[in-house]
Amino acid sequence: MHARTHVWGAPARLFRRLFGGVLLGGVLFSGVLLGGCAADRDSANRAATPPDSLRAAVESRIAALNDMREALAQTIETPDVDRSTFERVCRPVGMRAQQMARRQNWTVQQLAVRYRTPPHEPDAEADSVHAVFARNPKTMDTWIRTVRGGASGWRYLRRITVQPSCLACHGAEAARPAFVRKGYPQDRAYGFEAGDLRGVYAVFVADSLLTRRPVAR
Ligand code: HEC
Repeated sequence: MHARTHVWGAPARLFRRLFGGVLLGGVLFSGVLLGGCAADRDSANRAATPPDSLRAAVESRIAALNDMREALAQTIETPDVDRSTFERVCRPVGMRAQQMARRQNWTVQQLAVRYRTPPHEPDAEADSVHAVFARNPKTMDTWIRTVRGGASGWRYLRRITVQPSCLACHGAEAARPAFVRKGYPQDRAYGFEAGDLRGVYAVFVADSLLTRRPVAR
């Protein structure tokens, strides 16, 4: 079980625990959110809390996506992990993420510092949040105000945690299935242990979409 923590709506004590002494947090906080006004904690908290309807729509869909991966991974029989097995795990998750993006007009990504494939390398902002998650294992997710592709909006980032069932393909380097070793020459997504931070889900919703009702799943 993970404690659920909304960084920006959290009390000052939690805030200090997460960001105290963390240069990165300060940069994110003052640069992205406040334009240099990091001292005003209260206004920052308000500024970084998305409308309830948006929060519910994004968080529930990403939770469902994560549940889907974990449920699929549990169906793996370790001795014969091959391409057809993979078709039942991370590929449908990626497809569902892109389907969600198209339907809602959101950007939906899975990003990881130790990625399996280079398109999943984090941008600078996601990399900063990834680092905060890495240092704070109980921090589950966060919302930030940001600008992407020239549009201002909300970005939601949520931790992806390694489960024992993931290790069939993300465990020891030499134990990776053949289709991974052959098919992903730039793979860095191995050597994990259960409980590790695997990466982040990252959703961006432009402000221009906020008057729109989310499309049914
Ligand atoms: C059967 C093998 C297999 C299993 C089991 C598996 N994965 Fe993956 N995973 C892959 C492959 C292959 C990719 C690359 C997908 C692609 O080509 O986009 C991948 C990609 C990912 C990515 C996208 C980011 C990246 O590194 O490129 C994440 C996140 C991820 N896996 C997390 C998990 C988690 C968490 C679990 C367990 C709940 C899991 N995987 C179980 C094979 C697997």
